[in-house]
Parts: sequence; C-alpha cells; structure tokens
Amino acid sequence: MLGDNLRSGGVVILDYGSQYTQLIARRVRELQVYAEVFPFDAESDKVLANRPSAFILSGGPASVYEPDAPTLPDYVLDHPTLGICYGMQLLTHHLGGRVAPSSKREYGSATVHHDGAHPLLKGLPSEFEVWMSHGDRLETLADGFQALATSDNAPYVAIAHREKSWYAVQFHPEVSHTPLGTQVLANFLFELVGCRPKWSTGAFIEDAIRAIQAQVGEDGRVLLGLSGGVDSAVAGTLIQQAIGNRLTAVFVDNGLLRLNEAHEVIRVFRAEHGMNLVAINGAETFLSALTGITEPEQKRKIIGKTFIDLFAEQARQLSGTVRFLAQGTIYPDVIESAAHSKTAHIIKSHHNVGGLPADLPFQLVEPLRDLFKDEVRCVGESLGLPSSLVWRQPFPGPGLAIRCLGEITWERLEKLRHADHIFTTTLAEAGYLRRTDGHGSDQAFAVLLPVKAVGVMGDQRTYQEVIALRAVATDDFMTADWARLPMELLAKASRRIVNEVAGVNRVVYDITSKPPGTIEWE
Ligand code: XMP
Repeated sequence: MLGDNLRSGGVVILDYGSQYTQLIARRVRELQVYAEVFPFDAESDKVLANRPSAFILSGGPASVYEPDAPTLPDYVLDHPTLGICYGMQLLTHHLGGRVAPSSKREYGSATVHHDGAHPLLKGLPSEFEVWMSHGDRLETLADGFQALATSDNAPYVAIAHREKSWYAVQFHPEVSHTPLGTQVLANFLFELVGCRPKWSTGAFIEDAIRAIQAQVGEDGRVLLGLSGGVDSAVAGTLIQQAIGNRLTAVFVDNGLLRLNEAHEVIRVFRAEHGMNLVAINGAETFLSALTGITEPEQKRKIIGKTFIDLFAEQARQLSGTVRFLAQGTIYPDVIESAAHSKTAHIIKSHHNVGGLPADLPFQLVEPLRDLFKDEVRCVGESLGLPSSLVWRQPFPGPGLAIRCLGEITWERLEKLRHADHIFTTTLAEAGYLRRTDGHGSDQAFAVLLPVKAVGVMGDQRTYQEVIALRAVATDDFMTADWARLPMELLAKASRRIVNEVAGVNRVVYDITSKPPGTIEWE
C-alpha cells in the first residue's frame, strides 16, 4: 500500500523460482532502493505500474533449452536489466547466444578474475570469491555482449552488452557467501542505472501514514486484532499515528501466553501509547474448550475457532461503525502465498485462524505488506516500541497449548510459564536470546512433557513432571539446528527450574535438528 512516489524508480525482480529471490530484494532495499518481487509471468500492467528504473532476473531451477522453460517478457529489455544465474542464461538464450549443460556442475565457492575496467565490477579486487550454483553455462555470447570476468570453470562469469544497459552474472551476488556481492548490486543500481537511494524507514513511515489516511478517509474507523507479536504491534502503532483513536485494537488474552505477556501488551499499548484497546480475558473460555484435549491439531483447531468467535463478537458490536480490518501481513507472507507466484514452492505452513464470518465484510488495511521482517522491526523501533517487543522471538498462535504436552490445566500452564520464564531470562541475561555472530538462539522455550520421573530431593523420593528446554538457530524456520548453548547456561537454567518450579524434578535439553524434528514438540 505504498504511495507511488516511494515505489517508483525502484527495481522489479522477476522471480524464476530461485530460493534466493527474496534475498535479492532485501539486499537492494539495504542499499535504500525499493525492490519488489513479481513472478516472471505476472501481468505486465501490474509490474509496470511500479514504474521501475530497472529489472533483475533471478536464478531458478530450470534450463533455458527445456520445452517449458520460463521465458523473458518482452517489456523487460526496454529497461536496464541484470540477470543472475538462470537470469543470465535466459538473457543470453533470448538474445541468440548459446547455453548448454556444463560438463562440471559448479556448486559452491569459486574465484572470479577480471581486469577492473567495467563499472559493474568497479571497486572489486581483480580476484574475488563468489558463490555459484548452476549446471548450465554460457557457450557463446549473444551479439553485442562482452565478457567481463571468468572463473576456472567458466569463460563467462560476468557479461555486459556494449551499447544497451543489459548485464548479467553467473554467480549469486545476493548471498552472504559472495562477500563482495553487495558491491556488484550497488554498482548496477548506482553506477549503471542511476537509482536514487530514497527507501528508508523514515520515508516508509511518512508514506504509510499518508496511504492509511487516504484509504480510511476522514471519518473511517479501523479494527485491529493485537496479538502481542511484532507485526500486529507495528501495524497498530502506524495506524494509530495515522488516525488516532479511530483505531480500536482488540487483544484477546487466551490464558496461553507467557509470564506477564498479557499485562505487558496492555501496559505498552494502553498506558504508554494511549491506544484505544479492548482487552478480553478469554482464559476460562479457552481452557474450558480445551478440557480433555491432548491431540495437537485438535488443540490448534479449537484455539483458532475460539479466537474467531470472541473476536467476531467484538467486531459485530462495532460493525455498524467500523468498516476496516487491519492485519499485520508482511511481505514474505505475500510472496509465499501461492496466489502471488506460480514458481515459488514454499507455502506458509501455519495459519492460526481462519477468516471472519461472511456477515462481517471488512475492507483490509495492511500497512506492512511491502516490508520484510527486519524492516518491520526497524519501523517498530522508530515508532518508539520497546525493544523487548520489537525483537521478540516468534511465538506460535496456539501459544503454550502446544508446549504443554498432554492435558492442559491452569496448574500445568503455570508450571510451564514459570520454567519458560527462568530459561528465557537466563538466556537473555547472557545475551543468548537473540542470534548474533553465530551464537545465541532464534527461538528458545520450555516444554512441559506428559511424563513423570522419579527423583530425590533432600532425603525424599519425588515423582514429578519433566521440563524439556528447546533452543534453535535458524534463518527461515523451515530448517533449524539445535543451539549449541554453553553448558554453564544450561546448568544454571536447570538448577533454577528444579529449585523454583514446584512439581518439576527433571530438566532435559533437546538436541534434535529440524528435520527430522520440528521446532515445536506438537
Ligand atoms: P515447526 O514446529 O513447524 O515450527 O518447526 C516452525 C515455526 O512455526 C511456529 N509454529 C506456529 N506458529 N501457529 C503459529 O503461528 C502454529 O500453529 C505454529 N506451529 C509452529 C514455531 O513456533 C516455529 O517458529
């Protein structure tokens, strides 16, 4: 929902199915140029409505000479274009050059050599490391192209047209394994295309506020479900800045949140930000709906439905006056939704709630749908949200219900909350609740197991519950490794949990990666 101004003059990335496509967009935005991803076969009107300055063609798994290989839309070559990997092969094939299977697949690091003469490689040493991942390679250049760089395995690692603004690289400048890759992208954007770096958090906030005001009008009212997560918090704060107390936020405390979490959400938004916040204490409703339920998917369904029922009831009360429903949808949700792209295969695996009932026809307000998660966090910080909220680790919609294995009772939830608090504060104090420089965790929590264990405390035999600690390092939550936490930290957390949480006499640490495990236990 960005205004034309901030969007125009940016870059459109055409997606050919590479796992790195989103990363290209992130790198370009880090250079303060707006980048948006479209499937390669998107309607041209939609793509060109952005008024892009340039195109980047992503990599992809296909071979250009296969019968149904993805193609290059005609309108692209009217603009400066950079092809990456498959994008390079496609550009060459499209313009009459020859691409063929390579006798040696090139996967991993390679050294590139060049003479430094071309602006695409300006500022790069004559030899530099890149990341390659391709089976095909260029055999003959298309007319008008020149070679800019070579590797030991390939004669054409970077190429450029002599007259037109068409460039391509065989390696992946967007990945961190190409340490100087950002320089290549910067050269393309600033030396060759002449982009202006105008995409920034401040510019986004101003633009988003204007867009919300334009959409909602002078007297429109907006309803928002505030979960306590980063996305809805930032969306709510932006909307509040745009329309003040014409925003009503509804926060449902389902009794399945972590220690002090509900209290903290209410304090920050109501007391500190003066938000018009309706807080519903739904703990009893949720717990009675979950009585006797132990099967994880059933728990999820019940929680999703109970939430919708409570939220819809509030919405109905307001529906005479409120026409808009705000959501914290972010850009990866948009890219990953199958509706957006025919080529990306990743589909979001978890949906907490279904839609609202059909008798509540709201128009959606989604102010963050153009932002990546790290950009959402920067916006949150600029809007003055506390860093504990802005940098919060992901927390699943069904909350502690899927970490309280077996039967869910208030007493067991309280045990879990307490143990989880001890574990996460122990990590936070030591700087391990965020991942920086390869250490720490992206998600860390406690799980209450559905078994009892024998122990001894003082001279007494005990027969009590078991807590499992889980901490993982992950980039995308699709795969994860268990976090190699210092033994001393684990020892401290374990000691405190058995001493301070009544009814727990044993603590274990989960050392399973994903796959074959999942991050959550249920
Ligand atoms: P798994 O357990 O599938 O978790 O490896 C991957 C990520 O998704 C989160 N997760 C959920 N999030 N509703 C959510 O909103 C859910 O039902 C759900 N299940 C798992 C999990 O916390 C991790 O970040």
